[in-house]
Amino acid sequence: MLLEVLLALVLGAVVLLVLRRSKAAVLKTEDGWWGAGSPPAGAEDESIRPFRVETSREEIEDLQRRIDQTRPVPSLEDSQFNYGFNSTYLQKVAAYWRNEFNWSKQVDKLNQYPHFKTKIEGIDVHYVHVKPKNLPEGRTAVPLIMVHGWPGSFYEFYGILPLLTEPANADDVAFEVICPSIPGYGFSEAPRKKGFNSVCAARVFLKLMRRLGFGRFYAQGGDWGWQITTNMAQLDPTAVKGLHINFAPVENVGPLVILSILLGRRFPGLFGFTELDVKRLYPRVEKMLVEPLKETGYFHIQATKPDTAGRGLNDSPVGLAAYILEKFSTWTDHEFRNLEDGGLERKFSLEDLLTNVMIYWTTGSITSSMRFYKENFAKGFYPPHARIPVTVPTGVAAFPNELMHTPKLWAKQKNHKLKTYTTMARGGHFAAMEEPGLMAQDIQKFIKVVEGKK
Ligand SMILES: *[C@@H]1O[C@H](CO)[C@@H](O)[C@H](O)[C@H]1NC(C)=O
Ligand SMILES: *[C@@H]1O[C@H](CO)[C@@H](O)[C@H](O)[C@H]1NC(C)=O
Repeated sequence: MLLEVLLALVLGAVVLLVLRRSKAAVLKTEDGWWGAGSPPAGAEDESIRPFRVETSREEIEDLQRRIDQTRPVPSLEDSQFNYGFNSTYLQKVAAYWRNEFNWSKQVDKLNQYPHFKTKIEGIDVHYVHVKPKNLPEGRTAVPLIMVHGWPGSFYEFYGILPLLTEPANADDVAFEVICPSIPGYGFSEAPRKKGFNSVCAARVFLKLMRRLGFGRFYAQGGDWGWQITTNMAQLDPTAVKGLHINFAPVENVGPLVILSILLGRRFPGLFGFTELDVKRLYPRVEKMLVEPLKETGYFHIQATKPDTAGRGLNDSPVGLAAYILEKFSTWTDHEFRNLEDGGLERKFSLEDLLTNVMIYWTTGSITSSMRFYKENFAKGFYPPHARIPVTVPTGVAAFPNELMHTPKLWAKQKNHKLKTYTTMARGGHFAAMEEPGLMAQDIQKFIKVVEGKK
C-alpha cells in the first residue's frame, strides 16, 4: 500500500512535468503535392465541380459475372465467425448481392445529396455537402465536417445527415454537413506518392473547408476520422471550434495512464473511474496480449504490404465483401464472432452494407485505402501529433462496444478541454451508421455546451 502511494506520487510528478512541457507544442506541417509526376507550372485549379455517382450496364454485368464465378471455401464446422467470415453465410450475402441488390437504386440514393469534387494538392477530393432545407428566418446553420474511417465511407453518415440538418427539436442546432472521402477512399483520388498520412488528410480537409468559405467549424470523426479531425484541431485550433469524437484511443500512454491501469481496479475513485469503466476496462486489460493478436492481423498486413493483399480483393467482389463486412460484424460487437451470420443483419441491412462495399468495389480503392495504415505508421508509433495535446473544446461519445474503452481520465490526457464525455447506451465502432439517433443527440449536447446554451 505504502509502495503504491509512493509510486503514485513519483509518477504524478512526472506526469505534471510531461503535461507542462507538451502544452506549448503546436502541430506543424508543410504543403504536399500528390498527383502523378511533377506538379504543373502555375496555380492549381481551385474550382468546385458538382459530381454525380454513375453506373453502367458493363459495370453491373462485370460484377455479376465475378460473383457467379466465386469459388467457395467451406468454413470449418462450428467455427462461426472465429476463423473469419463464415462461408455458408457468405454465399447468402453473395446470392443477395447477385439477385436482389439493385446498385442503380443505391446510386440514386447516393445522389439524393449533392456531391462535389475539387482539386487539392494535386488530387481530386470528393465530398457530400448537405444544407438544411427549412431553416427558420434569422437562424444560420452551423458548419460541421464529418470524417469516416476504414473500411467505411461517407455513406456511413447517410442515416445521421437528415437528423443533423433537419433536427426535430426546435432548440436543436441545424447543421450544414460536409462529408469528404479520405483521399484514396471511394470517390476521392488516391495519392500517387508515398507519405500521405492522417496529418496530410487533415491539412487537405482544412483547405477544403477554407475553400468552402468556413473560417470556423466543428469536426466529428471515428476510426481514421478521429485521427484526421484530431489532427485538424492540432494544426489549426482557431478554425476548429469544437471536436466531437466517437473513438479516442490513448496515443500517449503516459505515467498517469499506466498508473490508472495498475491501480484503477483497487482505487477506482482515485482516477475518476466509474463502475462501468472498471467493468469495461479490466476483463480487456487482462486479455491485453491476446485480443490484439486475434483482431489486428489486418492492421499488420495493411501497415506493411497493402498492395499484395489489396490486389486479390480488388479482383474479387466476394472476397472484398468478406474482408470489409467481417469488420462490420466484429467491430459492432465482439460477441458476434460466435454467430454463423456474424450478427450483421441485427444492426445493419445488407443493402446498406453492400452499398458501402460497392463504394470500394466500383472505385477500385481498397488497396489505396489500406495504404493509409502503412503511411500512418511510417514514422513509428509515436509521431509528433501523438504527443501533442488537443486544445479545442472536445466531446467524447464512448460507445460500449467500441474496440477499446477510453475512460474520461485518459481522454483528458489528450484533450485538455474535454467538455462532454458521454457513456453511450448502445453501439459499437460504426456508431454513426449503427446508432444515428444516439450520435446526433450527443453531438447536439456537445455543441450546446460549447456554445454556452446549456
Ligand atoms: C459455417 O460454415 C460451414 C460451411 O461453410 C458450416 O459447416 C459451419 O457449421 C457454419 N456455421 C457455424 C455456426 O460455424
Ligand atoms: C433498380 O433500380 C432502378 C433505379 O431506381 C429501377 O429503375 C429499376 O427498375 C430497378 N431494377 C429492379 C430489377 O428492380
